[in-house]
Amino acid sequence: MGNNIIKLNKLQKSFGDVEVLKDITMTISEGEVVSVIGSSGSGKSTMLRCINLLEEPTGGDILYHDKSIMDSSFNENEYRAKVGMVFQQFNLFNNLSILENCIVGQVKVLKRNRDEAEKIAREYLSKVGMEGYINAKPSQISGGQKQRVAIARALSMNPEVLLFDEPTSALDPEMVGEVLNVMEDLAKSGITMVVVTHEMDFAKDVSTRVCFMDKGVIAEIGTPKEIFENPKNERTKEFLTRFRNN
Ligand SMILES: Nc1ncnc2c1ncn2[C@@H]1O[C@H](COP(=O)(O)OP(=O)(O)OP(=O)(O)O)[C@@H](O)[C@H]1O
Ligand SMILES: [Mg+2]
Repeated sequence: MGNNIIKLNKLQKSFGDVEVLKDITMTISEGEVVSVIGSSGSGKSTMLRCINLLEEPTGGDILYHDKSIMDSSFNENEYRAKVGMVFQQFNLFNNLSILENCIVGQVKVLKRNRDEAEKIAREYLSKVGMEGYINAKPSQISGGQKQRVAIARALSMNPEVLLFDEPTSALDPEMVGEVLNVMEDLAKSGITMVVVTHEMDFAKDVSTRVCFMDKGVIAEIGTPKEIFENPKNERTKEFLTRFRNN
């Protein structure tokens, strides 16, 4: 694995007096695919939202290439462009075509000219198998297709890290596979990914590391083999057992 990209250092996040993230310390290195698993309410989404600055941490720190995001000299806009996010609910712009969805951020945020942005958008739409739908509106395509467009849109910004928050949870079962296949290809291409997921096969087969969160802490983190075949923490064991029996 390569250099550190993001380091969470004793990260905390409270909403009022509810402590959602208690003490999260972990490093994400170049080329890693970290799957984050854990029960509902354990803080998985909040952690991702802190990483991409949708939430402001209430304690601890986040370092990007060893520079604190809290530092007054830190360039937040540049950082936001480097950290892409794919949401459960796609968050496409419904009034824009598929192609336009993948162009607008490049032009507005990265200040690319339209022709260049369109070329890049087409390239990534083709990579996710959506080149045949560029003029469609999001309402005209399926959930699995929407999520593939959302991935192409994120990739069009050339991020350094892609965060996924349960990207397949809103999909009909028959569409889960097409999105997971795209994600697996991405993982193989070497892009750094953090994936909150309930897809245990993905966590097991595609990740370089698996992070099990429980009640606002990382209860256990390790290789897929360590977590799935030889979990050390009682809560990890319980979670995996419950999961297998569902
Ligand atoms: N904006 C907010 N205001 C108050 N409480 C919040 C807010 N966002 C999240 N929480 C609380 O933080 C806790 C963790 O939420 P979070 O969404 O991070 O969990 P999660 O692990 O992603 O769960 P799920 O698997 O259901 O998506 C929950 O108890 C939730 O109610
Ligand atoms: Mg969540």
